[in-house]
Amino acid sequence: MVRPTRLASPPVTRFPAEFEDILSRQGRRVLAGTHALCGALADPRTRFVAADDLVDRRAAARLRRLLDAQLLGALQRIDRPIPPESIWEMTDDYAELLPKSARAGTIYFDSPREAGVRIARRLGLAAMLRSDSFRAFAAALAGRALADDAGQQVLCYGPGDYAGPHNDHHPRNRRARSGYLDVHLSLASPAVLHQWLVYARAGHFSEIVSVAGPATITAYRLPFWHYVTPLAARPRRARQARRWVLLGTFLFAPARPPRAAQASLSMPSSAARSNSRRKS
Ligand SMILES: [Fe+2]
Repeated sequence: MVRPTRLASPPVTRFPAEFEDILSRQGRRVLAGTHALCGALADPRTRFVAADDLVDRRAAARLRRLLDAQLLGALQRIDRPIPPESIWEMTDDYAELLPKSARAGTIYFDSPREAGVRIARRLGLAAMLRSDSFRAFAAALAGRALADDAGQQVLCYGPGDYAGPHNDHHPRNRRARSGYLDVHLSLASPAVLHQWLVYARAGHFSEIVSVAGPATITAYRLPFWHYVTPLAARPRRARQARRWVLLGTFLFAPARPPRAAQASLSMPSSAARSNSRRKS
């Protein structure tokens, strides 16, 4: 019996120009406004949503392989351990304070001369994260209009990489201090055994969700407390175990002022560009 030859699909060399092009049928329903998650984050009591079926899995696997091949060597390392002073300089019992600790690889898009940024641009990754359909997708989950400018970042978790408890609040940023939106696409390899996002609801770290799927969308109405557990690899698969996170940060559009006041409130372009909030 002659077995039919199974042709492997050729590796992709670029990201699509539009985020829409990697969505599954369910994901397109978000853009169409007919998915149950549309407007889910409009209720301030809902800070977080996650879904594993909004992005086409074959497209996700192809893009993950492209990132592995092209971007892995250009990552910057975040290595921010818990400071020993957080224990040894305490002066009162039970008065511990924990600054954010983290370990991961990253590419910050606000440093255009970085090798990783140049590669992300060449691959079309930067453009896809800035695409109209990614913004529209984020706005659909938020259930409200978003400002024109946005931030982008790439994270890559390998074995043992994690992010300690933090809340992503930016009180010094006038436009972000009352809240903003993050949308993440997670692309975990099959060699990942588990990684979890733990987040607070009603003041307790009571919620836990897997972020180790091959094509997971998570959306955050920040700030709120959360942490990411150390990535665990399957036995003897540590070298292949990693989770890429493609991250968009969006500010909410300001409420429309009365027409007479609009002219005096237009934003200088320099302020629009200074919308950079690094996740680290
Ligand atoms: Fe965070």
